[in-house]
Formats: sequence, C-alpha cells, structure tokens
Amino acid sequence: MKVPTMFICTSASLPQISCKKMFFLLLAVSSLSLFLHNRGRFIWTIKSFKWASNTSCSLPSAATKPKHMSIAFLKTHKTASSTMQNILFRFAEHHNLTVALPQRPCDHQFCYPSSFNSKFVHPYTLPAHIITSHMRFNHSEVQRIMPNDTIYITILREPASMFESLFSYYNQYCPSFKRVPDSSLETFLKEPWRYFRPTEKDSMFARNALTYDLGGDNNHRASDKAYVKDFIANIERIFSLVMISEYFDESLVLLRHLFSWELEDVLYINLNMRTPSSRRSLQQGLPARIRIWNALDTQLYNHFNASLWRQLDALGPDCVAREVQLLREARDRLVRGCFGGPQPQPRPANQIKDKVLRPWQPSSKVTIMGYDLPLNASYLGAKPGSESRDRCLKLIMPEVQYSQRLLQIQSLRYRRRLSDVLRRKLGRAP
Ligand SMILES: *[C@@H]1O[C@H](CO)[C@@H](O)[C@H](O)[C@H]1NC(C)=O
Ligand SMILES: *[C@@H]1O[C@H](CO)[C@@H](O)[C@H](O)[C@H]1NC(C)=O
Ligand SMILES: *[C@@H]1O[C@H](CO)[C@@H](O)[C@H](O)[C@H]1NC(C)=O
Ligand SMILES: *[C@@H]1O[C@H](CO)[C@@H](O)[C@H](O)[C@H]1NC(C)=O
Ligand SMILES: *[C@@H]1O[C@H](CO)[C@@H](O)[C@H](O)[C@H]1NC(C)=O
Ligand SMILES: *[C@@H]1O[C@H](CO)[C@@H](O)[C@H](O)[C@H]1NC(C)=O
Repeated sequence: MKVPTMFICTSASLPQISCKKMFFLLLAVSSLSLFLHNRGRFIWTIKSFKWASNTSCSLPSAATKPKHMSIAFLKTHKTASSTMQNILFRFAEHHNLTVALPQRPCDHQFCYPSSFNSKFVHPYTLPAHIITSHMRFNHSEVQRIMPNDTIYITILREPASMFESLFSYYNQYCPSFKRVPDSSLETFLKEPWRYFRPTEKDSMFARNALTYDLGGDNNHRASDKAYVKDFIANIERIFSLVMISEYFDESLVLLRHLFSWELEDVLYINLNMRTPSSRRSLQQGLPARIRIWNALDTQLYNHFNASLWRQLDALGPDCVAREVQLLREARDRLVRGCFGGPQPQPRPANQIKDKVLRPWQPSSKVTIMGYDLPLNASYLGAKPGSESRDRCLKLIMPEVQYSQRLLQIQSLRYRRRLSDVLRRKLGRAP
C-alpha cells in the first residue's frame, strides 16, 4: 500500500510504529480543530439534513409518480370506515372514476352478510376503479370485477371499543343483543352463550365481526393457532395497508405514500358518530372480557396494530408527526371554509334540515349524528350548486345518500357512453 507523500513518514529514522501513531494523532488533532472551528456549520448541516428529510418524507409529486386509482377498500363495521369511504367517494367523483356500487336489491351494501359475489354489482358501475361499500370479503370474487393492479386496503379498530359500539348500534337489530333483558353489555358478557346463537341472523355483529367481514370464520376456536396464523398471513398477502381507527391520521399518512395522493385527497370530517349520550365508557374488567369473547379479532388487531407502527417507524416519527400536522392544518382550513367555524356542530338527524344530510338511524335507542350545512358560512357568495358549496356538501354527505348520488352520475355517464357507441355504429352504417 502506497503511503501518500504528503504524510511525512518516509524518514527512515522514525520506526514504523511511531509513524503510524503519529499519523493517527495528526488526524485526530486536525479533525478536532476542524470541528471546533466549524462547529456552527456542522450543527447547521445536521439541522438542514433533518429539515431536508422532509424531502425523503414528502411524497412523490404527481409529476414524478401518478396517483394510484384502482382501489378495493374493505369497509368493516363500526371502525370509522364511513369516513374513509367518504374520502374515496369524493376522490372518485373528483377524478371521474367509476365506483362499483350494489344492485338495488342488495341495498347500499353488497347484500351483506352474504359472501361477496360479482353479480351483486350494478352493471352501470362497471368497469370500476374503486370498490368500497360494505361486503363480506371474497377475494376471488372481487378480483373478477376489479382491475389487476388493484391495491387492497382495510381498517380495524380496537376490539373492546368496537364491541361497545356494535352493541349499542345493533341493540335493536341483532337478536343476540335484543335478547339481553336489560340491554346491558355487562349482562351479555357475563354469560354470552346464553344470548348468542352462532347460526342466527346478524350474529356476526355479536362475535368477531372483523374476522367475519374479512371472510373468516368468526366462530372458529381461537385456540387453533394454525387457523389464526393462516388467516392473518392471507390478509397480509392481499392487503397492502391495514389502517387502524385509533391512529386514523397516521394511517392516512401511510395511505398517501402508498397511493401517491395529495393532501387535498385525504381531508375529511368524522362521519356516522353517535351522540355522546349513546356512548359509554367501559367499566373496569369489561375490555378484557370483550377481548376474550372476540379473541380472533383481538389477535388480528394486535398483529396489524404492530405492523402499522413498524411501517410508521420506518418512515420516521418526525416525518409522520409533520405529515399528520400538515393534514390537520389543511383539514381545519377546509372546515373553516365550509362551516365558518373551527368545528361543525354535529346534530341528531331529526334536527338536520337538509334531508340529503340525514344519516341512517339503526334504532330509537341510539342517535347517529350528522351535520347541517350552514347556508351562510364563509363560502358565502357561493350559490347552491356552485362548486365550493358542493364540495362542502359532499364532505358531510352520509353513505346512503352519497351512494345514490354516485349511482345517478354514473348511470348517466354509462347511458351517454352507450348512446355514443350506438350513434357511431349507426353513422358508419351504409
Ligand atoms: C420541512 O418542514 C418544515 C416544517 O413543516 C418546513 O418549515 C420546511 O420548509 C420543510 N422543508 C422542506 C424542504 O420542504
Ligand atoms: C371529468 O369530467 C368532466 C365532464 O366530462 C370534465 O369536464 C372534467 O375535466 C373531468 N375531470 C377530470 C379530472 O378528468
Ligand atoms: C368465494 O368465491 C369463490 C368463487 O369465486 C367461491 O368458490 C367460494 O366458495 C366463495 N367463498 C365463499 C365463502 O362464499
Ligand atoms: C392486467 O390487465 C391488462 C389489461 O386488462 C393486461 O394487458 C395485463 O397483461 C394484465 N397484467 C397482469 C399482470 O395480469
Ligand atoms: C398499538 O401499537 C402501539 C405500538 O406498539 C402501542 O403503543 C399501542 O398501545 C397499541 N394500541 C392499542 C390500542 O393497542
Ligand atoms: C348565519 O346565519 C345565522 C342565523 O341563521 C347567524 O346567526 C350567523 O351570524 C350568520 N353567519 C354569518 C357569517 O353571516
């Protein structure tokens, strides 16, 4: 190995060892003095490196990577999935995409709780870019109607709070809950098998609802480790992102990276919430009992919550915090623009003047809140039907009404396309 001549170790009078030592000593001293002289600049460099890390953190711009537009969102029950669906509906409408919607006999869901079948899809809504209405998942059936570059996503919620929500929402709907004499969650959990009938209508809401929605067997023995492992592995293979309701904004950061979407594409207002009086906090010991009763969902949740946080850690906590902050700021601006205030006041449905904004009510015992659009907020001057008023309206439009709206728009587009084809054919005819 050649020693560079600038290091004056060629002198034969110096033994090899001390020459090496001298070299390292010199190196250390010069590094130290360089650092002391330029301390300010070093720190500045580190800082700017940190700032610059929002370039690696920031998303590929639309110019470098087009937005992804083929999406299957498995909408689970009572998990903030209505809010996510509203984001997807608005994205689709804004980009003129087609959303696969249910045939009329299926209601606004794909004939849930039946396993999804491609026949459930309204023909005017095919070929589709996005599918997001409630279904019980069947991958091969969804594949039949979706483009082959479809990205699958879904959302899970912590089982104890989710079950409390299901119990309250479907109290008058699901026989396993209706049977409970005092309509109390405690009573149900004391002896669930006394009220629960696995084969009865709507029983999937009363045990492992997430597993059921994802196409699994919600009454499978939770001690069957091989079953749980296979089931989770299968979900992991199909779904590129499993969002977590408790970390909704963080999940949206990952979603934006996955789809190369802009901030504007993921702004939202919480939809389909209950009044505070229909909510209840869980007494000590209850969450643990709920998690045992819903042991499959609990394993599912624990697994995917852990993997969400692994993905967030990979992006870097600073980056995630910054993106969440940007999201909340942009959302606040939009909300102020639409409602004239920082936060729209949710109201019970019977107080909402505009019928198109009244959410569906599951029973008389629980009130699902919605919003009214003030007729005079800061989009004032914008007339009904104008773009900005329309944008605000869609932000708070409940699922059933928005599905009907999209079906109307898409049916019109379908018929127009059909008549164009016919006209061209007739025009060409001799
Ligand atoms: C990084 O983020 C900070 C704070 O959000 C911002 O002030 C700065 O301009 C950003 N830097 C770049 C290069 O985008
Ligand atoms: C969507 O369609 C409308 C009407 O056909 C058109 O004016 C608009 O430019 C389209 N928007 C996009 C993003 O393609
Ligand atoms: C899912 O669909 C496939 C056909 O695409 C069918 O063979 C299978 O039985 C379905 N699964 C369920 C649970 O219905
Ligand atoms: C996806 O579909 C397109 C057209 O429908 C086809 O050309 C392409 O080969 C398909 N890709 C794969 C990986 O199947
Ligand atoms: C989700 O995972 C994170 C990271 O491990 C943990 O801190 C958090 O408590 C978990 N959340 C819930 C609701 O279990
Ligand atoms: C909007 O109208 C309500 C009553 O209808 C009124 O109290 C409020 O001050 C008005 N807001 C603006 C910004 O004009």
